[in-house]
Amino acid sequence: MKILLTGGAGYIGSHTIIELDKAGYQVAVVDNLYNSNPKALERVSKIIGKEIPFYKVDIRDEEGLTKAFEAEKPEAVIHFAGLKAVGESVAKPLEYYHNNMTGTFILLDVMRKHGCKNIIFSSSATVYGDPAQIPITEACPKGHCTNPYGQTKSMLEEVLMDVQKADSEWNVVLLRYFNPIGAHQSGTIGENPNGIPNNLMPYITQVAVGKREELGVFGNDYDTHDGTGVRDYIHVCDLAAGHVCALKAIQRNCGLGIYNLGTGHGYSVLDVVNAFEKANGVPVKYSIKPRRPGDIATCYCNPAKAKEELGWEAQYGIEDMCRDSWNWQKNNPNGYDE
Ligand code: NAD
Ligand code: UFG
Repeated sequence: MKILLTGGAGYIGSHTIIELDKAGYQVAVVDNLYNSNPKALERVSKIIGKEIPFYKVDIRDEEGLTKAFEAEKPEAVIHFAGLKAVGESVAKPLEYYHNNMTGTFILLDVMRKHGCKNIIFSSSATVYGDPAQIPITEACPKGHCTNPYGQTKSMLEEVLMDVQKADSEWNVVLLRYFNPIGAHQSGTIGENPNGIPNNLMPYITQVAVGKREELGVFGNDYDTHDGTGVRDYIHVCDLAAGHVCALKAIQRNCGLGIYNLGTGHGYSVLDVVNAFEKANGVPVKYSIKPRRPGDIATCYCNPAKAKEELGWEAQYGIEDMCRDSWNWQKNNPNGYDE
């Protein structure tokens, strides 16, 4: 079965190719390389020992996308392509809405025209807003998203549900990712943020490798066990494996499926710093800073539905995640730039 990955050169997409290949699927990638480097695909190619058909195409380019569909004839799409920086989305709402929304509309139209009605969508825990219950189950109502990035995820979920409701030939799986960190055990691919990292783990690894002086811990007065924000960190390889299980559900004609992909464990910022130091024997200097606007205190899931219905469960713990994030960063202090 051939799977087209939009945004497949990015952090989660590149790791997912490896899991798909292991499970016997064929892959092709469409990516405009706006937030990724072609070296990621070269390195994945080396890991799996196969060429990866790649189309440098923006998903808003209907003609380019059509060519990729005609050449590859995919039976399913995993839709990773999107802009994802929360802060930037507040400053550039139109760019975010246009890229994420228009891009998905065009993708869905091209899929329909080619009779490809199977899609896995990269959604996010952000759709729960400030969650009504902890741990978060899929039955938890969606919340108010405080930024355009989150809005695009929430609205696109609605769009995809409507598409599936209108035509039962569609299989739509919405995967709500919690906080992916870590990297492939080879240490040759990983997260490669441009400029100053927004997210916790890439910031920690850049402090550890000497690129940044210290980590700012955004608030220590939350209602959590040590006052710092609690999240459900998940190893990116576990997350990647979740897509394989979702594809199997699609092959069973699941219709609509909505799943949290997380470990079900919440770790605070200081827990992660401590786990990183313990796993790697490298100090991480930090200081307490004010809260970051828009952050919530606690976000972790109940992943039972994915276990019951998809047979998926996270295998890696926080120390594995810290070890693998560091393995990637120390071997590639400048990411994919040599
Ligand atoms: P990423 O930026 O590494 O990968 C996204 C890829 O999409 C990039 O390679 C980028 O070049 C490509 N892309 C963006 N717009 C495109 C367009 N118009 N046409 C073609 N390609 C385009 O991000 P990631 O961390 O791998 O995230 C993948 C998906 O998962 C995104 O949709 C993201 O919003 C979602 N997600 C990520 C996280 C996270 O913490 N990383 C959490 C929840 C959800
Ligand atoms: N944090 C710091 N210092 C930093 C960066 C982060 O203290 O330099 C803290 C945050 O305040 C938060 C925790 O570390 O308590 C995690 O922050 P991240 O920015 O790594 O992750 P978020 O939970 O804020 O958001 C991420 C993605 C979103 C996605 C969400 C899903 O950025 O796109 O996970 O749960 F929607």
